[in-house]
Amino acid sequence: MARYLITSALPYINGVKHLGNLAGSMLPADVHARFRRMQGHEVLFICATDEHGTPAELAAAELGVSPRAYCDQFHDIQRKAGEGFGLSFDWFGRTSNPPNHRLTQHLAEALEGNRLLEERTTRQVYSNADKRFLPDRYVEGTCPFCFYENARGDQCDNCGALLDPVQLKNPRSKISGSSDVELRDTAHLFLLQSKMQEQIRAWVDRAEGWPSLARSIAYKWLDEGLIDRSITRDLAWGVKVTKDGAPRQGFDDKVFYVWFDAPIGYIGATVEWAEGKGGNWERWWRTDKGAADVTYVQFMGKDNVAFHTVSFPVTIIGSGEPWKLVDRLKAFNWVTWYGDKFSTSQRRGVFMDQALELLPGDYWRWYLMANAPESSDAAFTWEQFKDTINADLANVLGNFVNRIMKFAETKMGGVVPMEGEPGPLENELYEDLEERLARISDFHDQMEFRKAAAETRSLWVRGNEYLQLAAPWTALKTDPVRAAMVVRTGLNLCALFAATAFPFIPESAQAIRDGLGLKGDPAWPLGAKLFELVSPGAPIAVPPVLFRKIEDADVAAWSERFGGG
Ligand code: MF3
Ligand code: ZN
Repeated sequence: MARYLITSALPYINGVKHLGNLAGSMLPADVHARFRRMQGHEVLFICATDEHGTPAELAAAELGVSPRAYCDQFHDIQRKAGEGFGLSFDWFGRTSNPPNHRLTQHLAEALEGNRLLEERTTRQVYSNADKRFLPDRYVEGTCPFCFYENARGDQCDNCGALLDPVQLKNPRSKISGSSDVELRDTAHLFLLQSKMQEQIRAWVDRAEGWPSLARSIAYKWLDEGLIDRSITRDLAWGVKVTKDGAPRQGFDDKVFYVWFDAPIGYIGATVEWAEGKGGNWERWWRTDKGAADVTYVQFMGKDNVAFHTVSFPVTIIGSGEPWKLVDRLKAFNWVTWYGDKFSTSQRRGVFMDQALELLPGDYWRWYLMANAPESSDAAFTWEQFKDTINADLANVLGNFVNRIMKFAETKMGGVVPMEGEPGPLENELYEDLEERLARISDFHDQMEFRKAAAETRSLWVRGNEYLQLAAPWTALKTDPVRAAMVVRTGLNLCALFAATAFPFIPESAQAIRDGLGLKGDPAWPLGAKLFELVSPGAPIAVPPVLFRKIEDADVAAWSERFGGG
């Protein structure tokens, strides 16, 4: 038994997340966590909302509520949506909670102790009307590159250029709209990443569990040379800046930059878990306290890779303390909406809460993992959604389970039949299943979700083929003992399919298991006696329709409501 610490990139608090956010970190992390638990490993699966920074402050201001109230509300919304999708977090924490604040301040002080932090004077946009400095998104103005007039201080939405607020032409305050702004000097804390260049490179060189996408992004940053970066901002909502445990002079109106404290939130949320559940967080995070034998797996979208392979490691390696570092990292491309970005304002795409109004979480889970954006972006379309659900879930899995269980109910007295011995057809099936299971298991191990789903589906197809060949409905008339054995085999296949489906579609898998009278969560069946998963003589009950077919009329109605089509 091994130990796995699994984290999903922390979803930003700002609004309800869309299906692309789900598919690019939280969902695959959940599938992997479930698989590792099924194998019997000890798993700690952590997530949290990423709550600081300008987007949260601005969204709260727009609604006329405090950032704290705004975050309370959206943390709740996101937690409920996660539950609706069956995300099995051991803890869903918050970066705004005290453990993350304490850890962030602690790590900054440790970095300062190692001479990796430095106060520097920088020029910032100051608003006379608002009597405050304006960080990134608080400034708007004309893009110096494309002359778009509504560029934000951090980025131009028209040409995509990353900006510093001081680069904007005709800057104005997003708060008051006033253009009575000027550049003023003010101090900020800089993390001296340049000093860590060689240490980080050596660490990346040793990182074997990373896919090429992650390695190449890390090396690109290293090759360009790590630059010192400011880790504080002129904001009120965030982690306060301290020195020797007391408020840091000159930093009353500043907090740490959200990307500095957010990844520390992985640790903070683990501390929340320990406090809430009575666990030991150091066993997962401190290599001097038992975490050395933990395998730490991170899931994220590709835009997050540099922060996880370079910036966050600078923080924790630079602290000089024995923190656990990522061992395996899985990054995803984007799910797009018919090839375009998801967009709330332009009514493009489906968001997590809306998706659950249409269909249970399992439908989405299956579609998103079977079409995971692994080697490239993957476009969501209603047509493909319909085809995937109908072909894989309704026709193959649902149909198989329904057919064999109904038959057992009506023709076998509603129990797992006891008679009969396996014949050549079953022996061949058995060997085939073992090979297929090993392949599925390998794909899960490699975190190849698309392939794992495809192989899982083809296992279900193999079951249908067997049933077609063995034809218990015909055998019943000529050889009832053989018919009984085939039905028992079929019911074992139901149990096997439920187990292999469990990481992807846990609720449906559980419904199948309930029908078979199987208790608790399934174990990964590799090496198990595949024809002894259900007990002869045990009562069975046909589950209610597992998956409903998606009709053209659904596609038409959903396209009308959500766009696409
Ligand atoms: N909130 C970020 C995003 O949505 C991800 C933060 S991951 C963390 O892109 F590690 F920093 F928490
Ligand atoms: Zn521009």
